[in-house]
Amino acid sequence: MTTLTICITCRNAETRESKPGEPTGESFLAAIRAATEGRPFRVRSVACLMGCDHGCNMAISAEGKLTYVLGRFDGTAEDAAALSDYAALYHESETGRVPFRQWPQGVKGHFIARVPPLDAE
Ligand code: FES
Repeated sequence: MTTLTICITCRNAETRESKPGEPTGESFLAAIRAATEGRPFRVRSVACLMGCDHGCNMAISAEGKLTYVLGRFDGTAEDAAALSDYAALYHESETGRVPFRQWPQGVKGHFIARVPPLDAE
């Protein structure tokens, strides 16, 4: 199961200082849910991934695969569409590694961390 974990307390660069209204992460979660509808992903929310300075942040993971943390998103529908397309490639990959040439343009420059499978040797 491929899981997309979205930080709902994140604010994007534009709203981080002024903090108007709800956190950007709330609408980012809704955009990702809409963009991934019908795809075999679990989408869940979390309050803070401890990367607040470069929100909006999210993580993609699956059992036995690399985990990636991505951030610096504005939280738009375009961001969500790029992540959904990237997640489809991740889902198809045996290890979670997706060749750079296949990355959707909208995820380039957004990778924050790569974590090896935590349940492996
Ligand atoms: S509020 Fe999203 S990483 Fe901290």
